[in-house]
Amino acid sequence: MRIRPRRNRRSPALRELVSEHALTVSDLIWPLFVQEGTGCATPIPAMPGCARYSLDLLCEQAQAAAALGIRAVAVFPALPESAKDPLASAACHPDGLMARALRALKAAVPDLLVIADVAMDPYSSDGHDGIVRDGRILNDETLPILAAMACTQAAAGADIVAPSDMMDGRVAAIRDALDAAGHQEVGICAYCVKYASAFYGPFRTALDSAPRGGDKKSYQMDPANCREVQREVALDEAEGADWLIVKPGLPYLDIVRQVREQSPLPLVVYHVSGEYAMLQAAAAAGWLDYEACLIESLLACKRAGADLIITYGACDAARLLA
Ligand code: PBG
Repeated sequence: MRIRPRRNRRSPALRELVSEHALTVSDLIWPLFVQEGTGCATPIPAMPGCARYSLDLLCEQAQAAAALGIRAVAVFPALPESAKDPLASAACHPDGLMARALRALKAAVPDLLVIADVAMDPYSSDGHDGIVRDGRILNDETLPILAAMACTQAAAGADIVAPSDMMDGRVAAIRDALDAAGHQEVGICAYCVKYASAFYGPFRTALDSAPRGGDKKSYQMDPANCREVQREVALDEAEGADWLIVKPGLPYLDIVRQVREQSPLPLVVYHVSGEYAMLQAAAAAGWLDYEACLIESLLACKRAGADLIITYGACDAARLLA
């Protein structure tokens, strides 16, 4: 046979030389959940290996991640029900849980990039990403809340804010508000293409943030669609997004490739809670190898066109790559 593809797979050295994509620790962003208290680490049953940390332990976790070479964390707050209200007011308190977490992280690990999630749901008594009125999610009325939330986070030290709410026009609203408040250098990592996915289930148990009524289908995207991705990308670029996110990850790698081809912006894939939970559950049952499947999943995201990956397995992957 003249043509033998297997010649290029003969030895480890040869395989490494012809390898097309690589996963490195600087591709990884680690999500962290923060809660009130001291010395608290509350495990999240649906996400084995993950916990909600009080500020002191959050900083220890961040330090440990940085020591593994992780360059960025994405912070999500878990508020007690009593702190939630229909307008997500707690999100804009300069001394709220999120603001204190951001300040503590920047003080403890100054070189670690801190990404703050902008969305009402963890702070909302309705569990929605926008204001709810008569069962509808209001778009334009929600924008000032998102803008104020982003400014609070920027003032507390967030390097990047990441709107994950899917309201129309929020990137522009946040950019204008950040600029007006003197935060021109704070970046916006937009959840540009976010599907209404059942794979977010474990995350919602972590924050107790599931919608109290209805679902998120009037603002998050229909999993059946790919053409409207072009509009979302064009809008977020025009509104001033610095990075784009596609979410979830593995079930949407065709979309990752599509966005990669449309936009030159840094592209982030969110390997979400349900994807992580599936790996952990199958591994716990002895049905698959967590470490090998994690690395393969993350490499698949890179191959599809991701520059960066948000994954609950970031520290595990960092240890495996070391
Ligand atoms: C909400 C938000 C969600 C996630 C990140 N931000 C859940 C949702 O939209 O209901 C999910 C992340 C994950 O599943 O890992 N603004």
